[in-house]
Amino acid sequence: MNDQASALREQVKQLKGLPLEEPTLNQEARAIAVMSGKGGVGKSNFSLNFSLSLQKRGYKVLLFDMDIGMANIDILLGMTQRYSILHLFEQNLSLEDIIQQGPQGLSYIAGGSGLRDVFQFDEQKRIHFLNQVQQLSIQYDYIIFDMGAGITSESLQLILSCNEIILISTCEPTAMTDAYSALKFIHNHDQEIPFQLVINRAISPKHAIHTAARLQSVTQRFLNKNLSHMGSLPDDKHVTLAVMEQTPFLLRFPNSHVSRAVQEISSKYLHGSGRNTAATKKTHTFIHKLRRLFV
Ligand SMILES: Nc1ncnc2c1ncn2[C@@H]1O[C@H](COP(=O)(O)OP(=O)(O)OP(=O)(O)O)[C@@H](O)[C@H]1O
Ligand SMILES: [Mg+2]
Repeated sequence: MNDQASALREQVKQLKGLPLEEPTLNQEARAIAVMSGKGGVGKSNFSLNFSLSLQKRGYKVLLFDMDIGMANIDILLGMTQRYSILHLFEQNLSLEDIIQQGPQGLSYIAGGSGLRDVFQFDEQKRIHFLNQVQQLSIQYDYIIFDMGAGITSESLQLILSCNEIILISTCEPTAMTDAYSALKFIHNHDQEIPFQLVINRAISPKHAIHTAARLQSVTQRFLNKNLSHMGSLPDDKHVTLAVMEQTPFLLRFPNSHVSRAVQEISSKYLHGSGRNTAATKKTHTFIHKLRRLFV
């Protein structure tokens, strides 16, 4: 793994003429945290299918299941987890060893009770983890973290290290209130971090637009923060059917409304706030932020 990674770094160095010890954003994966206030609003389904749609467009995506306790992504893929992040330390494996291959060549790391431990490890182990993540980050275009419901002190650190946050909410007032509280909590720690809003399970496009507009307006009014509306997914029975078949809906029902909506969101995303925009270049790299918070 180390040899492989250094060979890869060398290649990138030659290709781009860049010093590898200080990766730039163009060379480093863009880290995105998918989060919500309320649980069960569709984070894991969105993370998985959004990752697959980026992968389909030729990007290399690593999906990281950060749900402590429940391994959601494995279940949605119908795959059995062999390793979680905990094995990185317990069995002295590298991050590359614990990456599993999902459909369409999607790489993912299964959930489990790992994240909390990572933040409680001694310095040597934390440095080991950071070095592993740094090596991975030059091999992927996007690292997408499917966060568990709510925010723990451990997940907060990781969220704050990401380049941006995708906030998921449904149109229900309980989900909206919790989404706003989660956003406010993060905003109180970092006012610069960009947020994108995805409305899930909308019963009509009108409901989605109305919900997004309400959230955008309170965020602007009380936090003076811009919340961009990334798009909406309809409430679609194909999600449940696909979950029951343990196959991502994008692959099982590619022509369903929900699959088309995910594709639309990813094209809009890639054309708008993708990896190489000016706004992106202003922010620190994921590794830089993680290292600052971590060590
Ligand atoms: N667009 C949708 N249309 C219909 N049903 C949906 C949709 N999105 C999600 N669901 C339903 O909601 C369930 C929960 O979704 P998911 O597991 O993705 O939520 P989550 O936010 O990751 O939950 P948790 O907070 O527990 O991690 C799905 O199993 C599915 O039944
Ligand atoms: Mg989940």
